[in-house]
Amino acid sequence: MSGNITFTMVKPTAVANGDMGNIIAKIIEGGFKVKALKYTRLSKAEAQTFYAVHKERPFYDGLTDFMSSGPIIAAVLEKDGAVAAYRDFIGATNPADAREGSIRKLYGTSIEANAVHGSDSDENALIEAKFFFADREWF
Ligand code: RTP
Ligand code: MG
Repeated sequence: MSGNITFTMVKPTAVANGDMGNIIAKIIEGGFKVKALKYTRLSKAEAQTFYAVHKERPFYDGLTDFMSSGPIIAAVLEKDGAVAAYRDFIGATNPADAREGSIRKLYGTSIEANAVHGSDSDENALIEAKFFFADREWF
């Protein structure tokens, strides 16, 4: 059974490019309800913890440098089958392969600077959401 919560971040390049408002608007238009929302910045150590699942991957150091390089938007989103629905909505990891009109196609500039993160399972969505948000920040 799939859950109804996913977690997303607007990545540093998309924030720096001024795309955060357009991206959040598109997410809401896509039928996702914003349950929690925060403008913040990860330290390198926090990015390493967040992406610990990728620590053996060759892109881990570059990814955690990038994700701690500037402010991000973190959000918890609600929709039926949220994890799969949101991954489909944002498009493929590499913006070059992403569906036309998807967030990664519109706002991503490289496989690393691919505009947004989306959780890959219900279990990770909850872990990631709790990493950023206290219960009282969740509506
Ligand atoms: P995300 O976790 O950000 O939603 O992306 P994803 O599931 O589509 O991709 P994942 O395999 O979890 O990778 C996490 C992030 O690492 C960067 N990446 N770089 N240089 C590379 O080959 C490479 N591969 C992945 C991307 O920023 C990806 O979103
Ligand atoms: Mg992933």
